[in-house]
Amino acid sequence: MSYPYQIKNLEAYHEAYKNSIENPEKFWGEIAEHFFWRKKWDKVLEWNFKEPSIKWFQGGKLNITENCLDRHLNTMGDTPAIIWEPNNPEEQHRTITYKQLHHKVCQFAQVLINNGVKKGDRVCIYMGMIPELAIAVLACARIGAIHSVIFGGFSAQSIADRLEDAQATFIITCDGAFRGAKDIPLKAVIDDALIGNKTIHRVIVCTRTRTAVSMIEGRDVWWEDEIKKVDAQGIHFVEAAEMDAEDPLFILYTSGSTGKPKGVVHSTAGYMIYTHYTFVNVFQYQLHDIFFCTADVGWITGHSYIVYGPLSAGGTSLMFEGIPTFPDAGRFWSIIDKFKVNVLYTAPTAIRSLMGFGLGPIQGHDLSSLKILGTVGEPINEEAWHWYDEHIGHKKCPIVDTWWQTETGGIMISNMAGITPGKPGWATYPMPGVAPILVDDKGNEVTEMEEGLMRGNLCITQPWPATLRTTYGDHERCRTNYFVTYDNLYFTGDGALKNSEGQFRITGRVDDVLNVSGHRIGTAEVENAINMHSGVVESAVVGYPHDIKGQGIYAFVIYTGSHGQDTHGTSDLVRKDILQTVTRIIGAIAKPDKIQFVAGLPKTRSGKIMRRILRKIAEGEIKSIGDTSTLLDPSVVDDIVKGAI
Ligand code: PRX
Repeated sequence: MSYPYQIKNLEAYHEAYKNSIENPEKFWGEIAEHFFWRKKWDKVLEWNFKEPSIKWFQGGKLNITENCLDRHLNTMGDTPAIIWEPNNPEEQHRTITYKQLHHKVCQFAQVLINNGVKKGDRVCIYMGMIPELAIAVLACARIGAIHSVIFGGFSAQSIADRLEDAQATFIITCDGAFRGAKDIPLKAVIDDALIGNKTIHRVIVCTRTRTAVSMIEGRDVWWEDEIKKVDAQGIHFVEAAEMDAEDPLFILYTSGSTGKPKGVVHSTAGYMIYTHYTFVNVFQYQLHDIFFCTADVGWITGHSYIVYGPLSAGGTSLMFEGIPTFPDAGRFWSIIDKFKVNVLYTAPTAIRSLMGFGLGPIQGHDLSSLKILGTVGEPINEEAWHWYDEHIGHKKCPIVDTWWQTETGGIMISNMAGITPGKPGWATYPMPGVAPILVDDKGNEVTEMEEGLMRGNLCITQPWPATLRTTYGDHERCRTNYFVTYDNLYFTGDGALKNSEGQFRITGRVDDVLNVSGHRIGTAEVENAINMHSGVVESAVVGYPHDIKGQGIYAFVIYTGSHGQDTHGTSDLVRKDILQTVTRIIGAIAKPDKIQFVAGLPKTRSGKIMRRILRKIAEGEIKSIGDTSTLLDPSVVDDIVKGAI
């Protein structure tokens, strides 16, 4: 495997960028030649952002798993594809070569076939970070089933909503998952999610924690038993389904500013080529490098840079089951030392939390194998950037600050390690094929600089191969969410700055989406969950700066009992009840950090909550609350300020 399209210097970046924007069809067509196609495409690109309709490599036929597995077998069959480090450092790690992974994916693809899964079926995957999760994902792709991975932290209710939305017919799960000192009962959560569900035919349960589970006759089967049946059938190879380039590969749910999470749909060929290309270029991947992405496969980062990007490149992907602070805050560093990791890709929130433990946990671990560091998911503050640079990279490793989204499938704006310059806190340059612009609230392009910077809402003017194609079951929602705000542009929901060198700095969301520890959470979603609690009349949720999480969740709640008290007990207990409700409805990741009981919310005469004011209060910026005269009742603001936490 070689990467002839790997950019080697700054001039080559500028040239590739220019070519990619001037003639995207030629640019991406040439890169696509390097993949394995059953049939070549008829047309590289056809698009409009009006509908939107975005089609890459139409007429092409392929299977992504042939590109991630089969094509590496002859030359790299014995190269590790996945190295897996368990939660408990005492437990044996696992190394799975390309040959072995291919075999396991074929075996499990046959399990899916035996259980009646067909091309186009939606399969929900709710598992911990074990190799079987990657195997399940790839087995779905092998037979053309659409996977929908749900992060292990989501509640039964969240799963039920997603199953319903995707009309999923199969579930793959585990008895439980180990995460730090916790043992999460995944199957029990699935059982709760399935109460009243009518679409699920079968649940395949992989053994991990040996937690007691109830197995329902006729519905639930054990992964291991099903594999034995495949062995008894003597099946070692499953022909990959021939997929159209534009066939959906997966659905991944993500939060928006309104209502329930939406199912972002990615296609097969465009997604494959884009994640591969960005993997190889941003991280300057060299064959046999050990690539450690600390994300969970339940999020887009895990899909693109634990599974599809690295495997399509014949890379070695290190998958870690646990958390950075278990059994102690030196865990990442001990893993890097143990496996001689070359590239570490993690989130600012993890860096900030580890910084808090000082330098002690790093001592005694040899980090000299590291060549490249990366961050993703949220803006990185300069203090964390410098700590990462000095204490982890020893000032020898370029840090790539990669900005992208679930909807973009792969990295959009980032420096390329050692090729284009990095800058603390700046994502810097767009990837080839990515054309970002800044617009003002009316949609006019910002061209004026103020103090050397342009400031605006970040939009993209033309499609890149991994653009989301739709939101599952509701194309109109995709259109209105991303393509209507500004005419003929994809709107990211982020604000950004641009300097005279053409570098971008992402300043954060400009819509009602929070980014808590790098996880996207809609304020409306949290409010809906809080409002489910009996006694809550109304609530408003905003973000506020949080030292470790980046953003914390601040909830203003009107409760029927005075000052948040009722017959159940004190306001503290009511607070706990509300947290419990949010955990049940969404999951623990959406629990508010602060709950303030209020008598009223600042509303305009038309009844709209003025979040700007609440945000200022939550941020402690009481002096800059601004004009409150348009409020129905300006006095509520004084009361809220007095009670602010
Ligand atoms: O606000 C941006 C922030 O995360 C959002 C996307 O979240 P999600 O779809 O969950 O995907 C996260 C992993 C790709 C963006 O709209 N974000 C992501 N990366 C960065 C970032 N903000 C600043 N800098 C980044 N590098």
